[in-house]
Formats: sequence, structure tokens, C-alpha cells
Amino acid sequence: MDVTLICFSQTGNTHQVATAMAAAFREAGHLARIIPLKEASPEDATRGDLLGVGSPCFSSQAPTLIKEYLRALPPLDDQLAFVFATSSGAPGRVLYDLTRLLRGKGAHVLGGFLARGQVHHPAPHMTGHSLGHPDAEDLTHARRFAVAVAEHVSAGRSGPLPESRPDALAPGRGLYDLMGLVSSDIMLRLLLPEPKPEPGKCDQCQWCVRQCPMDNIALQPHPVLGDRCIRCYRCLTGCPQKAFGADWRFADPFLLLLYNAASMRWFGDLEPGEQVY
Ligand SMILES: Cc1cc2nc3c(=O)[nH]c(=O)nc-3n(C[C@H](O)[C@H](O)[C@H](O)COP(=O)(O)O)c2cc1C
Ligand code: SF4
Ligand code: SF4
Repeated sequence: MDVTLICFSQTGNTHQVATAMAAAFREAGHLARIIPLKEASPEDATRGDLLGVGSPCFSSQAPTLIKEYLRALPPLDDQLAFVFATSSGAPGRVLYDLTRLLRGKGAHVLGGFLARGQVHHPAPHMTGHSLGHPDAEDLTHARRFAVAVAEHVSAGRSGPLPESRPDALAPGRGLYDLMGLVSSDIMLRLLLPEPKPEPGKCDQCQWCVRQCPMDNIALQPHPVLGDRCIRCYRCLTGCPQKAFGADWRFADPFLLLLYNAASMRWFGDLEPGEQVY
């Protein structure tokens, strides 16, 4: 079997899961290649016998850039597929977003896998959530899931994968599922602070221009943001000169209200006793 894994990963967590899955497919005698989203062409999704699509969860949903990629795909004509994601404990609709868009193109989605991933978000109450994930156990689960998918397909079974998370195949109805459904990029731009470049600190290295997933930063000669920001804060957390800042006075209490351990346990998928930090 020829497996294509198309994956967006901003800080490497989802890529670790993709790497573990690819290793498991290869150990089982299959071909597997990982294509980072920015390098993936629409045709890449149509090649091979099995397609895996992976993404981090941003704001309880799949990030705009992977949704845009999936919407622009050609028909997938019953292509067998699965989805995977990483999140900190409030995954909301991330898996189902991927499934829904793949199904919209005619793909046959067998199921989905989710692992915990450490948060690199600059809001004081968010940063460091799910510290150390994905860990060795998470990656073992990812490998097992890939083996289960491979066996399912090799046996000619086309029904839903028993090992799949239910929220990969049907939308959940919890608080975070609802938030993922209603929150749009426009709403995020209203509620969350814009990263503000401090020109005096910038040495024009271009890192943020290359890393912004939405190609939303231009150097003129210092960084200027366009109107496609999804508030992923890659520019702010990654700039080598720490040349971006943001005012968290209003947004941080709001984020704490929504993404705290108790809420993520009641309405997300944080296990009882599991530490947020
Ligand atoms: C801007 C942003 C928003 C996020 N929103 C959520 C969220 O709503 N729910 C959640 O469980 N995790 C959320 N996270 C955590 C990420 O999903 C998690 O850290 C993920 O593993 C990152 O994957 P990556 O390293 O592949 O980019 C968010 C992280 C960032 C940076
Ligand atoms: S990454 Fe930082 S230093 Fe480099 S161009 Fe962007 S703002 Fe300037
Ligand atoms: S400008 Fe910064 S916060 Fe906005 S999308 Fe680009 S990297 Fe993310």
C-alpha cells in the first residue's frame, strides 16, 4: 500500500505523530511519505492508496490554511482516508472539520486519531499547557492506530475503524464543538490581540515572513501584517529577536475562562487527574 500523509504542524507536535505513523506503515511493509502542507500540491492528495491528513487544533477547530487546502482539492473519488490531530485538551471540531471537508470531496474517511500536544501560545494562561506531549505513550498510540488502519484496509474492510475516535466520524455536541463551529477568523481578530512588531528590535532576518502560515507578513523594510491573520502567534513566539509583542490584558482572562483544567475536563477530553501544566 502507498500511504500519503499530508500534515500541517506549526510547532512540530503533529509532525511527530505523522512520523510515528509513517514508521509504523513502513514496518508493516507499506510505502509512506509525509508531505508538509506548505509543500503539498492538490494532486498529492489523489495519489496513493491511502491518504492521511493531520493538523493541530487551533481555537477548537482545524486551522484555516488546512481547510483552504482541502476545499481546493480535486474530486477524491472514494479515496480511502483517515485524519489525525494534536490538541491540548479542548479539541472541539478539529478531527470532524478534516473529515467533513474530505468527505465533501468524495473521500471515504475510515476514522481519526488524536494525541495531546504541548501548547506554544503566548497568552500567559495558555502557554505550556500539556507540557511534554506528545510523549512516548502518545506516539505508541499513534503507531498502533496506523497499524490498525493498515490492517483494516488490507483486509478489505471499508466500514468505520473500531479504533477511531467517535468525534472524527460525527460532530460532537459539547461546548468546544460549538465554539469550533461558530468562531471564525474575523471573530478571532476581534477578540485576540494582533501581534505588534517593534521595528527597533527587528534585524530583518525574514524568519517570520517564511513561517507565517497565512503568508500574511511583508517586510517594508520592517514587518507589516496583512488582513489574513489567524492569530496563530507563530511570528510572536518564534521571532529570534523577540521583536513582536501583544497586549493580553483583555484576552487572557477570557481565554482562562474558556480553556482551564476544569472546563477542559468537563467539556473537552482532559482525563480526570491529568495536569494541564
Ligand atoms: C493559536 C493556538 C490555538 C490553539 N487552540 C487550541 C484549542 O482550541 N484547543 C486545544 O485543545 N488546543 C489548542 N491549541 C494547542 C495546539 O492544538 C497544540 O499545541 C498542538 O499540539 C500544536 O500542534 P503543532 O505543534 O503540530 O503545531 C492551540 C495552539 C495555538 C498555538
Ligand atoms: S523574525 Fe523577527 S527579526 Fe526576523 S524579520 Fe521577523 S520580526 Fe524581524
Ligand atoms: S501574522 Fe503572525 S499571528 Fe498572524 S497568521 Fe501570521 S504568523 Fe500567525
